[in-house]
Amino acid sequence: LPALTTASLAATPQRRHAPGALSYESPFPPDFVFGVAAASAQIEGAAFEDGKGESVWDRFSRIPGKVHEGHTPDVACDHYHRFDEDFALMASLGFKTYRLSIAWPRIYPNGDGALNQKGLDFYHRLFASMKKHGIEPWVTLFHWDLPQSLEDRGGWTSRVTVDAFARYADTVVKAFAGQVKHWITLNEILCFTLLGYGTGGKAPGRKESDKVVNQTYHHALLCHGHGVRAVRKFGGAGAVVGLTDNCAVSVPVTETPADIAAARAWFVDRNAQVLGAIHAGKYTANFLARVGADAPDVQPGDFALISLPTDFLGLNIYSGTYVRAGKNGAAYEALPHPVNYPRADSPWLRLVPQSLYWGTRFSHEVYGHQALYITENGCGYDEEPVVNGEVLDLHRRDYLRSHLREAHRAIAAGVPLKGYFLWSFIDNYEWEDGYQRRFGIVHCDFKTQVRTPKLSARYYSDVIRTRRIL
Ligand code: NOJ
Repeated sequence: LPALTTASLAATPQRRHAPGALSYESPFPPDFVFGVAAASAQIEGAAFEDGKGESVWDRFSRIPGKVHEGHTPDVACDHYHRFDEDFALMASLGFKTYRLSIAWPRIYPNGDGALNQKGLDFYHRLFASMKKHGIEPWVTLFHWDLPQSLEDRGGWTSRVTVDAFARYADTVVKAFAGQVKHWITLNEILCFTLLGYGTGGKAPGRKESDKVVNQTYHHALLCHGHGVRAVRKFGGAGAVVGLTDNCAVSVPVTETPADIAAARAWFVDRNAQVLGAIHAGKYTANFLARVGADAPDVQPGDFALISLPTDFLGLNIYSGTYVRAGKNGAAYEALPHPVNYPRADSPWLRLVPQSLYWGTRFSHEVYGHQALYITENGCGYDEEPVVNGEVLDLHRRDYLRSHLREAHRAIAAGVPLKGYFLWSFIDNYEWEDGYQRRFGIVHCDFKTQVRTPKLSARYYSDVIRTRRIL
């Protein structure tokens, strides 16, 4: 694509707007962070190398019928061996911030027990390479690859996992405090609890009672607290920490006071178990009334840990639910998406760009956060062939542009949205959808490991360079 220059931008007619107001055409604020994201089990490969222990995804992917065509994370993007060239590519595209995760079973192959020095050595090499290429790491402590040994002892249903996580978090933060300043405790609690232990579509694939599932959420909240504690204790000067949540996002059907109030009420209800509890420092009366006898068991001191103050809130927002004012006194009515409503190839991924605006706005209004980051946003499609050296993913470019507009709109409205991470830097292991579903802005040929930046990568690169939605 031809590079945009300052001169060609200056020639673009600007819409008139009130002096000082941030319009769609204004650049993003100078300190706004643009990043790309990925996670250990999805890109590293080397699943059994240098002492790494088995993860629940290594195990789950081998159970027939669980993952698309039995794909495993064994090799993925082979990032374990190719990280230096991957960071060179990132740098060449102007991507200067990268959200990654550490694989717990590389550090403690059994979850607790013996430390694997080779695991620590790998991430030391990785962070050194990022530094060499001028890329700032944002590190997630847990992005779903639970050591299988812990699962064998109860996994997220057991406090054994909480104790093991506390030790793991201490070890990792201590080891990398000199190289990492931005920490994220856990990624998307709902996915590894409810989907892992309730519906069973994700590892470890269990189908437990509501009571047990609520207990897995509670243990995850405790681990979040331990992550915050570890960063405060060992992170060193300037370290910041937050949670990444895939909050349920409501979008008012019309932007009228009645529908907006209804959408906000739905948002509060639907996010009560994670964000509500963390910010209230307890399970709220509404939540407890809803779950009744299935409420999680709470021990003294749990909420002091869970509600430790954080520095920011990370939100993974891909889609949203339309909500309007309820009838006959109901607070709200959520509308199902009609069959013809546009979506990506992931069936859950309905294209609702306004979700970025309303998701960040409600998070700010309801929980009072002063720093919000979109820690993931992106779209997955199945067929994206390389033709004549190019992948013309105009659909993803449009997704990116329409969602960035809504992020920009949030900032203009005064929401303290400080950054945006695109999911994902490269096509990778999309969990139960295997390698079939591609979220990358860089294409990965999983047979040859050849990387090809898609049109969307060039587009994002231009957005970052100019700090404008092009
Ligand atoms: C959220 C998860 O954090 C990430 O691992 C996953 O690949 C994307 N959503 C897309 O489904």
